[in-house]
Amino acid sequence: MSAAVPPPRENQGQPAARIDARLKVTGEARYAADTPLPNLAHAVMVTSDIACGSVTAIHLDAAKAVPGVLAVLSYGDVDQLKKPKFGNASFTSLAPLHEKKIWHDGQIMALVVADTFEAAQEAADKVTADYEEEKPSASLISADTETIPAKGNTEKHKEDPAVGDFDAAFRDAPVTVDARYSTPTQHHNPIELFSTTAAWADGKLTVYEPSQNVYGFREQIADQLKMDPADVRVVSLFTGGGFGSKGPMTPRTAIVALAAKRLNRPVRCVVTRMQGFTTVSYRAPTRHHIRLGATQDGRITAFGHEGWELTSRVDNYVVGGTDATTRLYGYGAVWSKVSIVKADRQTPGYMRSPPEVPYMFALEMALDELAEKLGMDPVELRRINDTMKDPIDGKPFTTRSLTQCFEAAAKSFGWASRDPKPGSMRDGDWLVGYGCATTIYPTNVAPATVRMRLTADGKVRVQTASHEIGTGVRTVAGQMAAEQLGVDLAAVQVEMGDTELPPAPVSGGSNSTASVCSAVMQGARQIREKLFRAAVGSNSGPLAGRNPDELEMRDGGIVARDGASLKLKEAFDQLGAGVVEEYAEFIPEGAPPEGARKLYQGESTLIDGSKRKKLQFAFGAEFVEVRIHARTREIRVPRMVGAFAAGRIMNPRTARSQLMGGLIWGMSAALLEATEVDERNARYVNRDLAEYLVPVCADAQQVEVIMLPEVDTEVNPAGVKGLGELGNVGTNAAVANAVYHATGRRIRELPIRMENLLDA
Ligand code: MOS
Repeated sequence: MSAAVPPPRENQGQPAARIDARLKVTGEARYAADTPLPNLAHAVMVTSDIACGSVTAIHLDAAKAVPGVLAVLSYGDVDQLKKPKFGNASFTSLAPLHEKKIWHDGQIMALVVADTFEAAQEAADKVTADYEEEKPSASLISADTETIPAKGNTEKHKEDPAVGDFDAAFRDAPVTVDARYSTPTQHHNPIELFSTTAAWADGKLTVYEPSQNVYGFREQIADQLKMDPADVRVVSLFTGGGFGSKGPMTPRTAIVALAAKRLNRPVRCVVTRMQGFTTVSYRAPTRHHIRLGATQDGRITAFGHEGWELTSRVDNYVVGGTDATTRLYGYGAVWSKVSIVKADRQTPGYMRSPPEVPYMFALEMALDELAEKLGMDPVELRRINDTMKDPIDGKPFTTRSLTQCFEAAAKSFGWASRDPKPGSMRDGDWLVGYGCATTIYPTNVAPATVRMRLTADGKVRVQTASHEIGTGVRTVAGQMAAEQLGVDLAAVQVEMGDTELPPAPVSGGSNSTASVCSAVMQGARQIREKLFRAAVGSNSGPLAGRNPDELEMRDGGIVARDGASLKLKEAFDQLGAGVVEEYAEFIPEGAPPEGARKLYQGESTLIDGSKRKKLQFAFGAEFVEVRIHARTREIRVPRMVGAFAAGRIMNPRTARSQLMGGLIWGMSAALLEATEVDERNARYVNRDLAEYLVPVCADAQQVEVIMLPEVDTEVNPAGVKGLGELGNVGTNAAVANAVYHATGRRIRELPIRMENLLDA
């Protein structure tokens, strides 16, 4: 196991402990549903027992008769709400109480509000409904789904990347792989449950809700409640796991806010674990058809990737992971196509590395199959096909350390001792398998704003409405401020997660560290300029008359190259002020100038690393050892090693934690996680944490994270490539490849479970 506090290497910051660590471990960190409010009422949702059809009658009288019940909102009670718009700030356009049609399992039918949670729960249990049920299409394999191309039907996937004559190249290739892969439905189960708390005062609304996008929520709430966004405040000081589930808003929020308005008292709705499976987004199941053609010496000459993703009847959600797979290697000809399949399910949504996880699973498993056909080491195959330019349109990558990652991880893992023959490595009763895969994530960055204050006593305050979703962004923003203003981290206070603060982008697409740290650099520069001007412009003092360009802030003061220095206190005296406060806007290259203004309107402008002048991606290599019991087929993962290169690492401790969590989640996706959908009624079967399997510590025994030094001055001013979603991309393929190596069984459908290996 690598050290929890890794010493920094080149271009890596200090492994500082999280500045909010004590708050978190002592329970003082205030999560949204912890917010104490006087006279708080409690709400419980009632959700449908069918997935397709309509409600012919809903019976509320028994619920209303429960002592303590204050209100029941159902059909006809919310007409003053506007329907949500499908997009980055709302995961669905469905307005569940506006119509009696049921579009998916567990659709909201009513909201019961009572004096106590217990009364609300009891009353919610007493609500019954009569339905006219229709036969639903549950999954990608069901009859009566509708399949349409993503291109032309979705906002997100506008092009199917392709180059050259794929058909000819594939036909002529001496070695080929032609295989199909699939990944299952997976559900978000963040430790912190989903919740909404709404409180009104003087016609203004405050919503406390775990969020990755407070300004986006504010805009959505205002829109649905037909209010001025200035009268809405969204607070999410800490978020206990986001991973995309708390990026866009769900229909619950506006309904709870409306209930609070009607009752004229604060209302809190904490979503049950089970209801989290149906009222929030999830990772869509996918299918893939991969075709690879190569020369005998291992050069890929043809790559075809066709993908299908499930979506709802109401919204055309897509992830379209071919943007990553078609740009990964130096292929010859490329052809790709993404389709969406509309079924009777709620709209899917973001889940950590939304496009990359399923699409890269298919490609990286196919690559392992190709290596075997070639009789070539899988690491060597990836090395041979490494490229420094985009195979689609020839653009260069800013930096790309994929081969270095493979070398470092292979060495630490002991890959050289692998006997390539499947089933050849055995340790007593255990079949041993080694597998590896590439991991990749685009470096996204977005406009961000910040307000920063420095006082004469060397204290710094950073304010930006980014979100601490567990990544450590509060800490790394503080580190950047400390570095740029020459003070200790302990002197920096960071405020986030509140629309009273200057806006930051949605905490999605792993953009936050890059965007927020770049904004902090801009704010610090403005503060320095003011102080330096005062220092050089004064009639006397050690820095009078100097060129501000030769000054820096260090050790609680201003220092010139020759060592002459001014204490901060003296600089403030010369400035004639006790505080310098600056508001800064960071607009990344390629973003529109109105990017900052759009943030105030709840719109983040993410500049996608796969669509810039140069390609910007973080890379890694992941190695896994599996052990499969020869008799029971029990599958264990005793070791995982990942080596990653992601530009500047702001904090090796928090970065390691992100990457390690990713590796473990990837292993979980490979072996454990799947939501089973009943084909007969399109309902989720295992919708709780007893039956939706997730790993525990014993499932992840040794996880080693190697962070390679990498300097990239082009990605953004901070030089940071986001890594929050990098870790879990390659792992599912690495596990599947290791299972093959151990058993000789290619299981191309996730998750891989012992029952898949019984006859192996
Ligand atoms: Mo992430 S799935 O972009 O929150």
